Amino acid sequence: MLPNYYQFYSPIKILSGSKAVSNIPYEMGLMGCKRAMVVTDKGVVAAGLIEIVKSAFADSDRQIGLIFDEVPPDSSNRIANKLAKLFEKEQCDCFIAVGGGSAMDTAKGANIVISERSDDLLKLQGAENIKADLKPMIAVPTTAGTGSEVTKAAVIYNEEANCKMSFVSDKLYPDIAVLDPAMTATMPPRITAMTGMDALTHAMEAYTCLQKNPVSDVFAKGAIELIRKYLVRAVENGKDEEARLGMANAALMAGVAFSNSMVGACHSLAHATGGVCHVPHGLANAIFLPWVLEYNSDKVPEYVAELSGVLGGAVDYLEARDQAMVTVTLVRNLLVRLNQISGMPIRLRDAGVTEDKLPAIAKLTINDGSLILNPKEVTYDDALGILKKAF
Ligand SMILES: NC(=O)c1ccc[n+]([C@@H]2O[C@H](COP(=O)([O-])OP(=O)(O)OC[C@H]3O[C@@H](n4cnc5c(N)ncnc54)[C@H](O)[C@@H]3O)[C@@H](O)[C@H]2O)c1
Ligand SMILES: [Fe+2]
Repeated sequence: MLPNYYQFYSPIKILSGSKAVSNIPYEMGLMGCKRAMVVTDKGVVAAGLIEIVKSAFADSDRQIGLIFDEVPPDSSNRIANKLAKLFEKEQCDCFIAVGGGSAMDTAKGANIVISERSDDLLKLQGAENIKADLKPMIAVPTTAGTGSEVTKAAVIYNEEANCKMSFVSDKLYPDIAVLDPAMTATMPPRITAMTGMDALTHAMEAYTCLQKNPVSDVFAKGAIELIRKYLVRAVENGKDEEARLGMANAALMAGVAFSNSMVGACHSLAHATGGVCHVPHGLANAIFLPWVLEYNSDKVPEYVAELSGVLGGAVDYLEARDQAMVTVTLVRNLLVRLNQISGMPIRLRDAGVTEDKLPAIAKLTINDGSLILNPKEVTYDDALGILKKAF
């Protein structure tokens, strides 16, 4: 069914291919930028990826002003504030975020503080609170999952309140996304599996949530097709360039899809589980995805059913609800395979969650913004029910 009305916006230039990183200085020139601040984390530095970025600047008149490598997992408001001060002190004029969602979202957070001339990111949280144009940002994802390189969202851990905050604004779209297979080749198998499942969750929630539209559907299905083809390959052999580039494109397309349709209950549960038990975002999504698809099949069985075709399990003669269960089974089969080849846990109890934490997670879940567009309402008891099944 077509929506009565929808909007779609995706203003990001994409550079995708082997050695795409080498074009960054040229692209900085096109944007009138001279001195970049590189935002990354220690794991990305240890993997040798910043050396690739530095060598792109070797024969260039553009400069790297500062390499900031203190981004913690899930980012933090305190670090974003610190980064904003350093950006001004070092007289930088653009950001190059090199890393997963944590590095990209930290750069977005610092960019908000600088452009809004604020001193604290916490004052600006929520939707559409950002009025000023942000500094140019080039995003170089080193995981293939969050899609933050093309989304208008930043998710940042609030150290004081012990929860994750979301920032959503059209101003938060990066200017350029650089997909280079060398930048994800070093990702260990388990992180490849977890972040790849984050991308699959974005695509599947984008396709089933209330704000879906025909254009976001195309990106969501395209992403799922690539994930079906390349995720297991990338986990099995990290040096498989085609699989790495395929997954980078999948994560990007899933990001375009959900940035225009939003996500749903799976992300609410994942944000809450991350907040309470620090379970990595992609892993939490991976564990919840089949349970949430099953839950939502009561309300939108046809949408969940349609995804079985993209996953290779189309059967014409089943009722929509039964066909939806084919999709759920195919997702479960994928999880079992990823568990076999990477050791990625597929139950909460194996991911560091204890049973006594489930009520606290359920409570946070029902206050999470992503629930608003889930196709089926989720009460505290519903959330606790899903958590118990996933435990
Ligand atoms: N802004 C958005 O639209 C959006 C969407 C989904 C998730 N998120 C957020 O993104 C964050 C998670 O990001 P993530 O899943 O990409 O993980 P991450 O950025 O936290 O990285 C995970 C780990 O992998 C390491 N790593 C990353 N790339 C590597 C590589 N190529 N080689 C070796 N090690 C590498 C990092 O050092 C880190 O230790 C969460 O905070 C989540 O809430 C944001
Ligand atoms: Fe996500």
